[in-house]
Amino acid sequence: MTTATEPDTRPTALELGTDVLYLSKQDVLDLAISRTEILDHTRDALIEHGHHRYEMPAKIGVHPYSEVFFHAMPAYVPGKNAVGCKWIECYPNNPKKFGLPQTTGLMVINDVESGVPVAIMDSTWVTAMRTPAVTVLAAAKLHPTATTFGMFGCGVQGKEHVRYAAEALPKLETVYVYDTNAAAADALIAELQTDVPFTIVKGDSVEAVVKRSEVLSSATIILKEPLAVVKDEWVGAGQTILPCDLNTFWDPRTTKRADKFIVDSIDEHELFAEMGYFPDGLPTIVAETGEVLADVVAGRENPEQIIVNSNIGMAVCDVVVGRAIFDRAVDRNVGTTLTL
Ligand SMILES: NC(=O)c1ccc[n+]([C@@H]2O[C@H](COP(=O)([O-])OP(=O)(O)OC[C@H]3O[C@@H](n4cnc5c(N)ncnc54)[C@H](O)[C@@H]3O)[C@@H](O)[C@H]2O)c1
Repeated sequence: MTTATEPDTRPTALELGTDVLYLSKQDVLDLAISRTEILDHTRDALIEHGHHRYEMPAKIGVHPYSEVFFHAMPAYVPGKNAVGCKWIECYPNNPKKFGLPQTTGLMVINDVESGVPVAIMDSTWVTAMRTPAVTVLAAAKLHPTATTFGMFGCGVQGKEHVRYAAEALPKLETVYVYDTNAAAADALIAELQTDVPFTIVKGDSVEAVVKRSEVLSSATIILKEPLAVVKDEWVGAGQTILPCDLNTFWDPRTTKRADKFIVDSIDEHELFAEMGYFPDGLPTIVAETGEVLADVVAGRENPEQIIVNSNIGMAVCDVVVGRAIFDRAVDRNVGTTLTL
């Protein structure tokens, strides 16, 4: 709300090449974009990716310390009139060391025709939303009949994964959650149980969660050397495993012996492997997530298959969601207009 004495910095007359719209995290939240809308935008982005109608070089990055990275994530998705770049960091020790999130960042959205920047926005919310959207869209395609879901990691991503599971997997009856920090699992259950249609159960152990869940996801920590917290012998026929923390949480033997290893981006996974992740070698990749969602490549072909679907995050999803945020902000006069 502006008063008569304050300059009106709202975006009513955003002039291309002169103005840029700044959207804080609160501005983005104020737009009240629903999870259903995020699922729609993310599905669109994945389907465009599946049809190879995009431009998205694998992330380039810098690494001030071992195990941390900054990534530049540019993408252009013509079918969605979306072009821009996300600049994010992943510092796995931030929560313990500084009480800060592992991942924060900014995104720039540009005008496709003239190229000029039109928006700068906090990208924490976008990342927190589009990542679980990818997981559950893939889960719904690969395992639509699932009644059980296991979630490892109950932080920012874990919570949103459970919320998104409620949107996209209507047959779920029980969601098991597990975190080495038991308080995080308790907090997730306390915060979400009344909002979702299934029962959330705190897992007694990693093994118990793995053995009780048809579909599994992990959002814990990304490290070069796999922790192999989930032993291969606990994984059985028919399970669908969707890590968003690369191969860190899972026994590399599982990914190697899976009937299908599907990834969101082959280029991204090859790049991570070059950086030293997947020290046992990158398993053979049979398809990209978008190709499966777009029905370009088959997903699950029988109920016995073990499928591992690793989604490390793609800029095509960020810029498509970012463009939608910008359009809504302009429409609703939200944000602060800055001069370029
Ligand atoms: N694929 C993507 O697009 C994408 C996007 C964002 C974040 N991530 C990754 O997802 C992971 C989680 O991110 P976040 O923002 O939710 O972090 P967060 O710090 O909010 O939550 C991580 C949770 O995992 C728990 N945890 C850590 N090690 C564990 C273990 N061995 N077993 C069980 N629980 C464990 C922590 O206690 C914490 O509660 C990170 O690795 C991050 O890099 C991936």
